[in-house]
Amino acid sequence: MAEQKKTGFSSKIGLIMAAAGGAIGLGNIWKFPYIAGENGGSAFLIVYLVCVALFGLPLLMTEFLIGKRSGKSAYGAFRTLSGNNRWQWLGWLCMLTALVIMGFYFVVTGWCFSYLVEAVNDVFGGFDATAMTAHFQKIISNKPRMLLFSILPVALTGAVLWFDVNKGIERLSKILMPLLLLMMVLMAGRVLMLDGSNIGMQFFFQADFTKITPHVIMEAMGQCFFSLSIGMGALITYGAYMPKNQNVVATSIQVIVLDTLVALLAGAIIFPAVFAFGFNPAEGPELVFVVLPAVFEQMSFSWFSSVLFFALLCIAAITSTISLMEVAVAFVCEASNNKLNRHKSVLIVSAVVLVMIAVCVLVPQVFTIFDEVSACIMMPIGALGMAIFVGWNLPNPNGKGVLSPAKGAKRVMGKIYINALRWLVPAAIILIFLNSLGIL
Ligand code: TRP
Repeated sequence: MAEQKKTGFSSKIGLIMAAAGGAIGLGNIWKFPYIAGENGGSAFLIVYLVCVALFGLPLLMTEFLIGKRSGKSAYGAFRTLSGNNRWQWLGWLCMLTALVIMGFYFVVTGWCFSYLVEAVNDVFGGFDATAMTAHFQKIISNKPRMLLFSILPVALTGAVLWFDVNKGIERLSKILMPLLLLMMVLMAGRVLMLDGSNIGMQFFFQADFTKITPHVIMEAMGQCFFSLSIGMGALITYGAYMPKNQNVVATSIQVIVLDTLVALLAGAIIFPAVFAFGFNPAEGPELVFVVLPAVFEQMSFSWFSSVLFFALLCIAAITSTISLMEVAVAFVCEASNNKLNRHKSVLIVSAVVLVMIAVCVLVPQVFTIFDEVSACIMMPIGALGMAIFVGWNLPNPNGKGVLSPAKGAKRVMGKIYINALRWLVPAAIILIFLNSLGIL
């Protein structure tokens, strides 16, 4: 525990920025707009916000609490809190999920870097949507290039993790997160000045409740877990580094607000741009990599817009890979009883990740399987395990579990929280699970 403290965050804001940086990523800027685009825009947004409040908040708090109370990473946290080994599998599952997510997440991050370099070199000059589609296919099927561009973010992430948490992750997040927000606001401002952008805003903000189907609800729940990085110990790891006097509820709400704000900003950039130039918002995963660059080509200052957009995409992605890789690095340090120090652990994890990336690049089916298995099976099981662990397994509700003893309103809130973990959250997760397996 003492060692954890030494390498923890030195300020509350540092932890908030780092945790928000982990949450804010490709999920917000790449996935959220296309899933919303396919599921009716505003209708999806409303369901998503409800999911975030009902399931996102209690689960985020739970991970932070597990980390903060135990002072351990996903490896030691469950054993420390429960006093036995029965929940150890959950720690291993977190580690495995982090590895699997890294396998494909670094590849998509590689696309972003590749696009940034191309945007800077003005490669897309004059491309329309057809030319962009061909270009995207060409880029992702160029395996040596993709490999190279996926290794680049691994090296960058490893370099940040090489330093202690308060020097590497904390310092960088404190710079990159405000920068990201600023760039997004600029970009949204630029796009909203386009003629016809209001149609996009209407699509995004005018609710049409007839669009809400059970399928939309399930998609929204899955997206909520992915976007908030729930169910794989990322926030347990940061919770262990949390300053002692930091309030978990307030921190969780701040992280959620920032994450949601960025998803909204991403929508406010993408939909107006897409509608202003008559493209289709339901374009799927290619929305950001095909439609958007084609849209930029039709705008004035096209070079600047493309570079700005892909730079902010890279920043969002890299702060997430940092938080993903830290799960594995902290795990290896702890599992080896600190015989493997931070540096060795970074090297080992990077090596394993490089192998996973190589497989994902060389065998595209594995890429898809990693994406689906982590989002539809591993993260829901991880989140379910944690909800049951804290809701049912630790003595509750006040005093001995993860909550401190409390009176009055706080005690009532504690009870609501524990009951949400016992009933509401598991029920929701089981629904997502059955849906993603095609049973519902
Ligand atoms: N939340 C990240 C995003 O929105 C993706 C993600 C999922 C993640 N699980 C994670 C990031 C764990 C860091 C740690 O893009």
